[in-house]
Amino acid sequence: MPQGFFLTFEGLDGSGKSTQLRKLAQWLEARGEPFLVTRQPGGTRIGDRIRALLLDSRTEALSPMAELGLMFSDRAQSIAEVIRPALDAGQIVLCDRYTDSTEAYQGGGRQLGSEIVRQLHEVMCGGLDPDLTLLLLPDFRRSLERARRRNHRAVTQSAKDEGRFESEDESFYRRVFDQYCEIARREPLRVVAIESDEEIERIHERIVSIVEARLAHRA
Ligand code: TMP
Repeated sequence: MPQGFFLTFEGLDGSGKSTQLRKLAQWLEARGEPFLVTRQPGGTRIGDRIRALLLDSRTEALSPMAELGLMFSDRAQSIAEVIRPALDAGQIVLCDRYTDSTEAYQGGGRQLGSEIVRQLHEVMCGGLDPDLTLLLLPDFRRSLERARRRNHRAVTQSAKDEGRFESEDESFYRRVFDQYCEIARREPLRVVAIESDEEIERIHERIVSIVEARLAHRA
């Protein structure tokens, strides 16, 4: 049985990561690879409840530390219930966001710093790191505009309120963006940053060639 492979997608809201994840899943499906798609926060029944609490704009009084703890509680549940069993069964796990999001949003955006995030990662995630992280970094301003447009649509057209983060100001997102760049500089083997505003298909082709090469080297 081939070894499992843990692949995460990261980026700002509006960076196009979820679209690229979907396209990669279709590519894996066509190749007949065993894979599983999940996301954070969410992806389990308990995680979906944590997600609703975290993203609801009525949760405005949540303290940054409480937010940090909830992100890791969700992650611990996801590892126990979804990620670990899938990796142990030899599957490729595609996860939309993981600990890098916490380092970027809570560490950078909320200014809690990286150290506490790294420590909690060791304790709550048993140090489970992705084999590969695809970090989508299109132009900062374009991401922000897309996220705001999407948030506006979601607020006006859907019963679900997931706008708490997307209503943050530009300086918050600038710190998130800078922290992502810092993670990519620090871990160049694990994190591949795709700093591109090319069209969706071109970026997908680049992602496929990166993933194909990494999967070929799987033990
Ligand atoms: P999503 O819409 O990409 O699923 O992400 C939900 C929001 O949660 C997004 O604004 C980023 C935020 N988030 C954090 O702040 N910290 C985390 O650890 C994760 C996983 C997400």
